[in-house]
Amino acid sequence: MKANPGGILAPQDVIGRDKLIAKIWAILEQQSVILSAERRMGKTNMIKKMEAEGKDNQLIIFRDLEGMRSPIEFVEAVWRDVEKYLSNKGKTKRVRDFLSHLEGIEFSGIKFPKIAATHWKTLLTKTIEDLVTNQDRQVIFLWDEVPYMLDNMGDELSMELLDTLRSLRQTYPQVRMVFTGSIGLHHVVKKLKQAGYSNDATNDMYPIDVPPLSLNHATELTIRLIEGEKIETENIEMIAKYISESVNFIPFYIHHLITELKFIDGVIDKSTVEQTINKLLLNPLNPWKMEHYLERIDNYYTAEQKKYATKILDILAVEGGLSFHELWNRLAIDPNISEEEMGRSILRLLMKDYYLIQEDKNYRFRYDIIRKYWETSRSLGT
Ligand SMILES: Nc1ncnc2c1ncn2[C@@H]1O[C@H](COP(=O)(O)OP(=O)(O)OP(=O)(O)O)[C@@H](O)[C@H]1O
Ligand SMILES: [Mg+2]
Repeated sequence: MKANPGGILAPQDVIGRDKLIAKIWAILEQQSVILSAERRMGKTNMIKKMEAEGKDNQLIIFRDLEGMRSPIEFVEAVWRDVEKYLSNKGKTKRVRDFLSHLEGIEFSGIKFPKIAATHWKTLLTKTIEDLVTNQDRQVIFLWDEVPYMLDNMGDELSMELLDTLRSLRQTYPQVRMVFTGSIGLHHVVKKLKQAGYSNDATNDMYPIDVPPLSLNHATELTIRLIEGEKIETENIEMIAKYISESVNFIPFYIHHLITELKFIDGVIDKSTVEQTINKLLLNPLNPWKMEHYLERIDNYYTAEQKKYATKILDILAVEGGLSFHELWNRLAIDPNISEEEMGRSILRLLMKDYYLIQEDKNYRFRYDIIRKYWETSRSLGT
């Protein structure tokens, strides 16, 4: 197997997700699902694998929503997907009749006319009606990057879209939705709440977290990549395990590290791995694309939250695990930081955003590789 950091893999190259995928299928028998994870953990590859595994009694429709900016763009994408599946069954008759009625002439196009924009709710409902009445398989929409799309749309339209999707789930119980997202939906929902939205339009969906690979699966992936890239090692098992551990079993970084290691001449040992990681973390071009750990705080935290969050991460990046009491003693030295409750609530947010975990009494970075990145990129430490 060749290293392919960031690409879409063949389903057989998606390692170690079978149990989690089986769990998602089992939950989808009853309800819809929200899949969340830190960036690059492998969500898209997982749902692409699910798409490839679909059974005859399922109709699985995958769509990346990241670039969508308005409800009508989203609805048009859903409609196109549905039309493709119904191409042998007269296509989406309800939608086409409705568009003909709006335009005053028979609609036979493949794009929505401008006039459709304000009618997106009706068009979405009719699209789903057309779909469920024209075929009898269970419909599963795999919608990637839902929070990005909502964020692009603004509060009011996001609220309406989430409500409409929820009402469709209730009206058509044979339809399931899987939302995935790498910025947590909680950031979008928080903004919606501030804008006066009190519904929780996803509380009928089951939340599932996509963690890194297990030690065994990460090692298996690393061995396959070392072999595929013909990298020389003295003890492949031992070095594969070391590589996996060094990047906290995150498959994206394993692919990246192998891409670097394959250009190094000679036998790869632990010290080559360590030096390569350190070099990568210092590379200003940031091939591991970790900037989002910095940018997320700029983009989704308020100025007040940012002060606390940055300081907490700076302290924990250098000191490792600390109890709240120990952390607060260090935080409170900063003249900009005075509210203990704010400190607590930011810790909760940083845990939701995958920066930190709490183990017993101590808070620490969830992934040591991210702690190193934070420490390096902010020139902390001695
Ligand atoms: N199960 C896996 N087995 C092997 N490699 C994987 C696996 N999951 C992810 N990868 C590697 O990590 C890369 C990123 O995966 P993917 O794009 O699916 O992550 P993502 O969570 O959707 O990321 P983003 O948050 O950027 O959308 C893949 O291109 C591949 O190199
Ligand atoms: Mg993705």
